Amino acid sequence: MQWQSDTRPNPQIPKSPVLMTYFRPEIEAMAGYAPGEQPQDGGFIKLNTNENPYPASPAVACAIGEVLRQGLQKYPDPLAWAFRRRAAEVLGVEPDWILAGNGSDDILTIVTRALVGQGQLLRLPYPSYVLYKTLAQLQGARSEEVYFRPDWSLPSAFAAAGDALRVVFLANPNSPSGTMIPPEKILEFAQRLPCPLLVDEAYVDFAEQNCLHLVARCEKIMVSRSLSKSYALAGLRFGYLVARPQLIEQLIKVKDSYNCDALSIAAATAAIGDRQWLADNRAKILATRRRLVAGMRELGFVTVESQANFTWNTHPQRPVKPLYEQLKRQRILVRYMDYPGWGDGLRISVGTDEQIDACLACLGGMV
Ligand SMILES: Cc1ncc(COP(=O)(O)O)c(C=O)c1O
Repeated sequence: MQWQSDTRPNPQIPKSPVLMTYFRPEIEAMAGYAPGEQPQDGGFIKLNTNENPYPASPAVACAIGEVLRQGLQKYPDPLAWAFRRRAAEVLGVEPDWILAGNGSDDILTIVTRALVGQGQLLRLPYPSYVLYKTLAQLQGARSEEVYFRPDWSLPSAFAAAGDALRVVFLANPNSPSGTMIPPEKILEFAQRLPCPLLVDEAYVDFAEQNCLHLVARCEKIMVSRSLSKSYALAGLRFGYLVARPQLIEQLIKVKDSYNCDALSIAAATAAIGDRQWLADNRAKILATRRRLVAGMRELGFVTVESQANFTWNTHPQRPVKPLYEQLKRQRILVRYMDYPGWGDGLRISVGTDEQIDACLACLGGMV
């Protein structure tokens, strides 16, 4: 069944070889990034795309209400200064070190478009966030996957010089594993690399460490963050980058003029200012994560110790795809991921205690 929001090509639309010739060959050749299932009819326990199960800070609704009262007739601030100023205070950097984006995917797109040209090289770890490779394909660029070791560390090849290497992406915590490369190691990688290293910290608020302080220490390091996960604002679309102002200045040339709308700028500004909400939410997610990890291990899964709001689970005796399918029939959605050359597993987002208990009970009846 195709979801209403399924982005895969619709098999009912007839193929047209003539219309295909209008496109750049790399667009025609690529499959396109397939986001996780987003059923729009409700009724699912949704543990497949690492959303936060709790409502966002109440400050968000107030901020949106205020913008609506003022009206939406005018264009928003193209540089989202209100957010940059508030985030700068919170993060302890200057506002011109921050670039706001329409989700952190927008930030990753801007960086790739600005740095990587046709035929040039983007490096990424494997398995990791699949979008990085798609972004290289969109540019007509090459990508190089450096495999994680079985313990989820990265070999020194990750920092090797490469022919036309233009940028390296590293999700930290990584998806799907939830594991982290320590900041000292990342600094060492960046110092050896001939190009910028973007540390994608979409999940970092659930972790013990982060790399923000490295941006001031090493000009090649950029850090991207998301408000989708730890601020419970996936539906809003807001993310940001912290990097040297000289880099931000160039990246601004590449972004859409109004890449963040007035509602999202106001909401994100309010959300990042509510530190107590973040701390409370983090504590709840971490407590449920412990429960999820213990429960999965009790059921015989191999579950990686996670620094994110999800866990990566394999099973030594059983194929996991049928488990995903059975869960879905019970209206519990988790993410089945199959990485060619690496293996498959179930990535399960940390929901509420009740959601996780329901998922564990359902799996318990299957394994
Ligand atoms: C590693 C990683 N980076 C970035 C993103 C994109 O997040 P956003 O919602 O901010 O675009 C995701 C989303 O799942 C992710 O897993």
